[in-house]
Amino acid sequence: MEDVALADIATQFGTPCYAYSKKAITKNFNAYQTALAGRDHLICYAVKSNSNIAVLQTLANLGAGFDIVSLGELERVLMAGGDPCKIVYSGVAKNAADMQRALEVGIHCFNVESEAELAVLNATATKLGLLAPVSLRVNPDVDAKTHPYISTGLKENKFGIDINLAPEVYRRAASMDNISVIGVDFHIGSQLTEIQPFVDAVDRLLVLVDELQAMGIKLQHIDIGGGLGVRYQDETAPSAAAYLDALLPRMAGRHETVVLEPGRSITANAGVLLTRVEYLKSNGSKNFAIVDAAMNDMLRPALYQAWMDIQPVTANHGSKETFDVVGPVCETGDFLGKDRDLAIVQGDILCLYSAGAYGFVMSSNYNSRPRAAEVMIDGSRMHRIRARETLQDLVRGEQLLPAD
Ligand code: LLP
Repeated sequence: MEDVALADIATQFGTPCYAYSKKAITKNFNAYQTALAGRDHLICYAVKSNSNIAVLQTLANLGAGFDIVSLGELERVLMAGGDPCKIVYSGVAKNAADMQRALEVGIHCFNVESEAELAVLNATATKLGLLAPVSLRVNPDVDAKTHPYISTGLKENKFGIDINLAPEVYRRAASMDNISVIGVDFHIGSQLTEIQPFVDAVDRLLVLVDELQAMGIKLQHIDIGGGLGVRYQDETAPSAAAYLDALLPRMAGRHETVVLEPGRSITANAGVLLTRVEYLKSNGSKNFAIVDAAMNDMLRPALYQAWMDIQPVTANHGSKETFDVVGPVCETGDFLGKDRDLAIVQGDILCLYSAGAYGFVMSSNYNSRPRAAEVMIDGSRMHRIRARETLQDLVRGEQLLPAD
């Protein structure tokens, strides 16, 4: 990774360990910047994909805005030096306390997902004597053709407001005293490897924007969400440039600022998970490589049947055999990869690729396993950006009952 051997990262910080390349994060972000040159835009990195404050700091220094979904993510962005005026706040369940903090720091926009939320936001803003900038997240009813768990733009999904009902909700929003209607947004899903669903969603959205304009509601921005896929195996994911080349001409000549919320396409392929082979074992016809990373460290294979590449970082030892790469957690679903051809021996370090997005952030302490360390590589420098959790961390906040 950059000028550092992966094996050296494992030696220095132990395993399991996430490592990210600052250069790759920068390159992926700048690909969006370049493709948007000449167009008013705001790239709001989706914090949920990797929320380590050093990752956020790297992006803030590049001028990124941020798409957040919780108060925790808001505080992380502020801690990392992110500009509150460049934050959009998504999510279906923001409550009054969340809204209050976001109003106080002065975020760019609330991406509102329901009429009920709009009412609470108006009440909260009224109480504070502030004006809440609002975009309505509309659900364009487009099939993102991705895994059902990460598909969000269909009528059957919990997200957004039905695009056909949106004009009426906009009308009501515009009449509220402490709401300032400034935009519209959608997010149809994640890991999209085709451009067409984005094109369909943008086209539907633009019809709505024009209809709103005719009603006297003039928007300042159009937020086309995130969702651009990456290559994990043999997918042909469009580049940021190809994706925007398909979408920007459809918005040519319009005055609205284009807002984006990319996550995975910035961080996924900038990170890896390093893990050590604890044992090899064979149960008749099956070989298992038992490694020290588990589903609690990387949930994607167990939750989405995600395929992620796994390779040894040390020199190959002899001939390849077919292994299921499994972790120490007591669940049959605890695997990182199945039927992988690997030439490995006990003690080898393996690298799970494309782990920079939805990796560490989805990790847990299941089976009372401390969460992994995170490291940022910058040229030949290795920075620890999160210490491995200790056994003390595991019970932080827990308490024994009083003796009877
Ligand atoms: N904006 C909104 C409102 C979102 O819900 C998401 C992701 C994004 C932006 C960023 O999407 P991206 O560019 O990263 O695709 N844990 C799953 C992915 C869940 C995505 C949730 N929403 C996985 O590991 O595949």
